[in-house]
Amino acid sequence: MENLNKNVCNCRKVSFEKIEESIKNGADSFEKVVEETKATKGCGRCKSYVEDIVKSKLNK
Ligand code: FES
Repeated sequence: MENLNKNVCNCRKVSFEKIEESIKNGADSFEKVVEETKATKGCGRCKSYVEDIVKSKLNK
């Protein structure tokens, strides 16, 4: 269960919804999502989580 308003990346305050949005807007890889949202650009601890979200969204 995902809480849409919960931050996926706390350092950059990137919500789950924001990740989804960037994919909807055409980001089709982890790198592009990072570029657009800046998620993972702080401590980096959220990287595997963000990767998983991007992967699961793109494999749909
Ligand atoms: S929580 Fe995402 S970079 Fe720190």
